[in-house]
Amino acid sequence: MRHQGSVAAGAEKRAADRDASADRQSGDAAGDDIARASPAVNASVNGFGYVAGELCAEGVPLSVLAERYGTPCYVYSRAMLVHAFEAFDGAFADVPHLVCYAMKANASLAILDLFAQLGSGFDIVSGGELSRVLAAGGDPAKVVFSGVGKSDLEMEAALASGILCFNVESASELDHLAAVAARMGKVAPISLRVNPDVDPRTHAYIATGRKESKFGVASGDAHALYRRAADMPSIAVRGIDMHIGSQIGELAPHREAALRLLSLADALAADGIALEHIDFGGGLGIRYRDETPVAIDDYARMVRELVRGRRERLLFEPGRRLVGESGILLTRVRIVKPGAARNFAIVDAAMNDLLRPSLYGAWHDVDPVRPRGSGKARFDIVGPICESGDFLAHDRMLALREGDLLAVRNAGAYGMSMSSNYNARPRACEVLVDGCVAHLIRRRETTADLTAHEARLPRRSDA
Ligand code: LLP
Repeated sequence: MRHQGSVAAGAEKRAADRDASADRQSGDAAGDDIARASPAVNASVNGFGYVAGELCAEGVPLSVLAERYGTPCYVYSRAMLVHAFEAFDGAFADVPHLVCYAMKANASLAILDLFAQLGSGFDIVSGGELSRVLAAGGDPAKVVFSGVGKSDLEMEAALASGILCFNVESASELDHLAAVAARMGKVAPISLRVNPDVDPRTHAYIATGRKESKFGVASGDAHALYRRAADMPSIAVRGIDMHIGSQIGELAPHREAALRLLSLADALAADGIALEHIDFGGGLGIRYRDETPVAIDDYARMVRELVRGRRERLLFEPGRRLVGESGILLTRVRIVKPGAARNFAIVDAAMNDLLRPSLYGAWHDVDPVRPRGSGKARFDIVGPICESGDFLAHDRMLALREGDLLAVRNAGAYGMSMSSNYNARPRACEVLVDGCVAHLIRRRETTADLTAHEARLPRRSDA
């Protein structure tokens, strides 16, 4: 369906447009070729960049998207998503491997669909994620299932759909899985997720590979548990797995942990337990501010050196690295509020849309969509939510007026997927841009959506 309407309309028309775009969410196969109707852009950018003084997503000015779909709105670049996947996958092109995208980073169907088409597998952590993979046309035979608390129901669903491997995180989980599989007359393929006790040197909340963490089986206990697993008739030992943390900025922790994993694999082989695959997890960081991320080629060289001469297939579970830089959160300045101590720009996005700054103190660059020549001041960029912890950025030098559009950068990972309805705020819409075509891949929630799953109490007869 194509829309050629003028983009310079008033508030009423914008609201009507938004309703219309919400209505056509699922029938939007051809996308919305809106950039061609805009004289502002005559060149397309690869990803996000300024053209004629305005920030664009590929060939579409962000202001056009804001008019069409409203704000707050997540905007993704298809070219960047494809590039990120191909860079990772391509770095291991000449060795048997499978990239299992850690979909918790961004589980939107269109993004799963895109990665599935590129040949990706998926790292899931719940039955809900499994159902999303299936709904997006992903191949269950390329799915690995991580997580410390899988329920019997989730195990059943994963066994029924024929996933590649369960990454088992405790002795008790192994027993539960063996029982569920036996009940179903199936054999569950497993790896043990080993906790190598390596410090990934990242934020404490997202470090998972130290012995203090709830994740994985201690390296010292793993061999004995593998032996037990090998004797279980409803369990088939397939591989070994680790994931030591997220937003890791250096190669060394990955290497140290991989060495421990490989020496455990060798000890198992010597004990007659041969593995088909080795899963190195995810965790490669991206640049949010001034970090120098590990280059994919350096990471691949390190891994390939360590596995030279081995026969196991290599698995990887990258999340952030495949989607983080490919998305922005588009938001409009609602109120400019000069204060005694600080100036606030109150925008229409909030911590319910992007939790990372509030939860981890994370930095996201904030860029004006149409930069103003002068008049910069120091601003806190905050949302309308009733908490002082509701902020997107502190202390940013920006020239801002009410109505201006801002792009919160590097919001493709752990943005939409961690969003909520806090303060009864409908969740944002998502748009994926492909050249000059915009696809509405998730309509904005309505206030009716907010109460759709709830019930009021019946009247009490004695009242
Ligand atoms: N594999 C497992 C088992 C994981 O738990 C995770 C992430 C990944 C792979 C992917 O890690 P990545 O490549 O994305 O670093 N919400 C936090 C990040 C939490 C990561 C949780 N586990 C954030 O916004 O920074």
